[in-house]
Amino acid sequence: MRIILIGPPGAGKGTQCQKLVEHLRVPHLSTGEMLRAAVRAGTPEGVQAAASMEQGQLVPDPIILGMVTKRLEAADCRDGCLLDGFPRTLPQAATLDELLERQAMSVDGVIELAVPRDELVRRMLARKRADDNPEIFAKRIASFEVQTAPLLDYYHRQGKLASVDGLGTADEIFERVQAALERFARDRHVRARQGRRDPPWPEV
Ligand code: AP5
Ligand code: MG
Repeated sequence: MRIILIGPPGAGKGTQCQKLVEHLRVPHLSTGEMLRAAVRAGTPEGVQAAASMEQGQLVPDPIILGMVTKRLEAADCRDGCLLDGFPRTLPQAATLDELLERQAMSVDGVIELAVPRDELVRRMLARKRADDNPEIFAKRIASFEVQTAPLLDYYHRQGKLASVDGLGTADEIFERVQAALERFARDRHVRARQGRRDPPWPEV
């Protein structure tokens, strides 16, 4: 199954994905982690990406798409994957749909982690990542609101969006995430019965 987690910086995407990978046993693809690894390794993509990341801006689509396409085509993603922080723009979402369509696959569900801004700031201040400072964080939130939030409507129109309250303990939120997965599984059965793509997945 192919699940996307969307949410503003600090919403808990990485935290919930760590729990989800144990549950779903599919690879966790975090574009943020991939980019930080490329920056550390000093690859050409990493050097280009660093300039945007340091400013709290999104990395240009061609760099992201080059990186993710390669990863999604790897054998371990054949049975599914967990996408954390990708897609983040409408062109990224459209490219992902085309890529999966070519392999007769599709996104099964999109989980939005909804967290109010004051809590995001509180979490950011409690952590110490290079891009966690108030000025850059405000820009990361603005990038989310302008470039990524339109994806919520994109997936809502496809009937694939589940909005989850991202406030509470990580375990409480994970219970809500699991309820969303159950809904995605039911929807997938319905699509299969209607003769649409994707066979039913194993019980979650
Ligand atoms: P990325 O690494 O994806 O960062 P982000 O979206 O800003 O989100 P974070 O990783 O900060 O937060 P999260 O939602 O994963 O929350 P977490 O679980 O860590 O991207 C970084 C940069 O890379 C971007 O700014 C951009 O430049 C670039 N980039 C990445 N993908 C891109 C793309 N597709 N296109 C273009 N550019 C891209 O939790 C946060 C903190 O809160 C942690 O300390 C955690 O312990 C804590 N926490 C988690 N859950 C809870 C809870 N329930 N209660 C209290 N605290 C909690
Ligand atoms: Mg993260």
